[in-house]
Amino acid sequence: KKPEPTIIFIFGGSGDLNQRKLTPALYNLWMDGLMPGQFAIVGTGRTDYSDEKFREHLLNGINEFSRRKDDQNGSWEKFAQSISYLRMDVDNPADYEGIATIISNYETSWKVSAHVLFYLAVAPQLVPEIATNLNKLTKAKDILRSRIVVEKPFGHDLKSAQELNKLLTNLFDEGQIYRIDHYLGKETVQNILALRFANALFEPIWNRNYIDHVQITAAETVGVEDRGGYYERSGALRDMVQNHILQLLCMVAMEAPVSFEADEIRNKKSDVLNAIRKIKKEEVQRYAVRGQYSSGWIQGQQEKAYREEKGVAPNSNVDTFAAVKFYIDNWRWQGVPFYVRTGKYLTEKTTLITIQFKEAPKYAFPPEATETWRANRLTISIQPEEDIRLLFQAKRPGQTMSLNPVNMVFSYADSYHEPQPEAYETLLLDALMGNPTQFMRGDQVEVAWEVIEPILDTWENRPPVDFPNYAPGTWGPEDAEALIAREGRNWITLP
Ligand code: BG6
Repeated sequence: KKPEPTIIFIFGGSGDLNQRKLTPALYNLWMDGLMPGQFAIVGTGRTDYSDEKFREHLLNGINEFSRRKDDQNGSWEKFAQSISYLRMDVDNPADYEGIATIISNYETSWKVSAHVLFYLAVAPQLVPEIATNLNKLTKAKDILRSRIVVEKPFGHDLKSAQELNKLLTNLFDEGQIYRIDHYLGKETVQNILALRFANALFEPIWNRNYIDHVQITAAETVGVEDRGGYYERSGALRDMVQNHILQLLCMVAMEAPVSFEADEIRNKKSDVLNAIRKIKKEEVQRYAVRGQYSSGWIQGQQEKAYREEKGVAPNSNVDTFAAVKFYIDNWRWQGVPFYVRTGKYLTEKTTLITIQFKEAPKYAFPPEATETWRANRLTISIQPEEDIRLLFQAKRPGQTMSLNPVNMVFSYADSYHEPQPEAYETLLLDALMGNPTQFMRGDQVEVAWEVIEPILDTWENRPPVDFPNYAPGTWGPEDAEALIAREGRNWITLP
């Protein structure tokens, strides 16, 4: 089944996200034959582009960032015929008439009542203005045929997220609002549902009786690059934990859904978020660690400290690293810590989920049979490795009973040879099809803010004394090691 005829308006059309992710995603969907039979892509922005120049700018993006480059056989030219540019000022209500005209022109020529996707790839402070103006369009009131996609950050804290939700839900039906979290579109993330709920093997042991703890690491080897201005208002906790990491945590911790209906999946995730223990302000120091990178050397290159980056205050207290211990207070997870960490300029680029099982209840082997490690571990590598490994003890060949850990591995690259769609392809297709399952519902976003708010408040009110406290190329501040080590555990990375 293909999506209905659709006009896609990309606000922030001349921006980075469109060039790097959105247009490449739409181009790949089109190459795969998944775009609607009739479609148009209209970029809007303040830059003065002709259609021609706009297409050229996007083609550069295809050649640099897309998984498929221009094949030189005319594919891009053909695809690009559907792309145009509308110069507009988002706070000038009169400019929205241009949008209405474009919609009605396409409808006349296609002879259908088209679907419309408004994709807001803009700075968060512009969202209310744009949404309010869009709402005045007749098309926006067509609940079944118009949708609005809102990028992160969704709010800056609980209060602003509530206000934004209130504003959007006053203007649009919840079913029209698609709050995007691109981690949910990653193949390996979607596969967590398959692993857990299409196999009878794991579910019976997926609980506090068998699992010692869970870890989620989302590490990056880059600094804040040229996004210092954005990052100053964000920080690692807001940028990665509030959204991506908590969503991963939900995928690991949710109860089995009875169907794949959007609200069923979203309800199950909301249950997890609602069950996360709210950290008391006076306990934040025991549960959360923040870090900020200093200057240092990575691979022979000297990197600036965060405080020296463009757009960053020289005395900035913004976190570029965050580690938190969460508890989920429900029957399944009572007492099982979920340790999460994320940061810029860490040792490796890796997103990894580790389920550490408990040790066998009785270990009859002689002490000399094995090294100290005895417990099973399931590791789900989200990126860049894409695999799932189950670590277990095996007997080493020979006449003595000598044990050592081995891995049973499922690797995407070995099992599947077809290329994988990018997260944005999957999510854009879902938005075109009108399937909100992998998008966040308003209540989820709010609870996720509620979960991290005590940490945010405490950090903001108590300036760090030791910033910068980690060097580029390390695993973050020492306190992050201590957070887990004092409970007799350690952070796990792949060998
Ligand atoms: C974004 C953050 O949401 O996710 C960035 O704003 C971060 O700071 C990025 O670099 C990481 O995404 P990915 O898909 O590269 O892991």
